[in-house]
Amino acid sequence: MPKLTDPFQRTIRYLRVSVTDRCNYRCFYCMPLRGVPWEERDQFLTFEELTRVIRLFTELGVDKVRLTGGEPLVRRGILEFVRQLSRLPGLADLSMSTNAHLLADHARDLKEAGVSRVNISLDSLRPEVFRRITRNGDLEAVLAGIDAALAAGMEPVKLNMVVMRGLNDDEIEPMFDYAVERGADLRFIETMPVGEAGIDGTDHFMPAVEILARLKAHAGAELVPVKGGKGAGPARYYQVGQGPARVGVISALSRHFCDDCNRVRLTAKGDLVLCLGQEDRVSLRDGLRQGLDDEEMKAIIRAAIARKPRSHEFNSDTRRVALRHMSSLGG
Ligand code: GTP
Ligand code: 5AD
Ligand code: SF4
Repeated sequence: MPKLTDPFQRTIRYLRVSVTDRCNYRCFYCMPLRGVPWEERDQFLTFEELTRVIRLFTELGVDKVRLTGGEPLVRRGILEFVRQLSRLPGLADLSMSTNAHLLADHARDLKEAGVSRVNISLDSLRPEVFRRITRNGDLEAVLAGIDAALAAGMEPVKLNMVVMRGLNDDEIEPMFDYAVERGADLRFIETMPVGEAGIDGTDHFMPAVEILARLKAHAGAELVPVKGGKGAGPARYYQVGQGPARVGVISALSRHFCDDCNRVRLTAKGDLVLCLGQEDRVSLRDGLRQGLDDEEMKAIIRAAIARKPRSHEFNSDTRRVALRHMSSLGG
């Protein structure tokens, strides 16, 4: 099997594909209040083009693909796209990151089409706090979406809580109880300074060690590091006491995970983004639309991977307006 290896001997096996930059929510750490200028839709890769690019990646050794946004469920035709992807022989793990606003209606079909698991943003269980963070989110719809994903047999269902001091940090414990009751995996995420909205988020930064200490006190049990279950991302997992409950933390700021980075990102308009925290990108759309053949496209992909930076350079003092908007990158 061919491999995509970068200059730091990291093998790229995980592609995050943003299918749209649009989102039906406006999380304040992700999007500025005034919104962001949307890309023109004709700038987006078509689903045929996306399927081709993803096939090329699988032929180069990528076996995990995550669909992101914006909000992936707002792009029309997504189900048929998923069906096409699930026919790619090299693709072992097809997942989606979603805000779950539309999931109640789609979970079963998505599962049938080939999305075996979802990661869902859930920052609060209190409607007014949820609305403050998402600006216009509907907690009830999201909770229904989570139940629908579980009922559809998606496994695992992972809940992502971006923990923010003074905003939702008093919900670390209730969120844990909520996840345990449902058999969902819970991950606590440190705010990251991506885009100008992300910098607003880091005003509420809370380090993972503090989150874990709170949880340990709440559960009255040790947190034992365990190897991550199904997942390709940067979360570190801990079993709570004797289990089966476990939690993950994603700590881009307080503890680098870049040495193990295995992923690149594709934006909706076909830019290959080599690191979440750096500007480096390579357009694949030009080659696609100039009619390059598969081998020529693979050569462009290989050359792009050879430019993957070693790491992000975030720290908790980051104040410069950092990078592109998270909302068009899908996290
Ligand atoms: P699995 O492990 O496959 O379940 O997925 P994941 O955790 O990679 O995906 P998800 O979309 O749920 O992302 C969770 C958080 O991890 C988000 O805040 C992402 O921005 C963050 N994240 C994912 N990959 C990277 C990365 O390469 N660098 C940084 N700094 N953050 C990342
Ligand atoms: N910092 C940390 N996580 C973020 N996400 C979006 N913006 C940020 C940020 N600035 C998370 C969302 C979602 C995941 C895909 O990315 O909460 O769960
Ligand atoms: Fe939308 Fe996700 Fe960004 Fe929230 S974090 S605005 S749900 S893309």
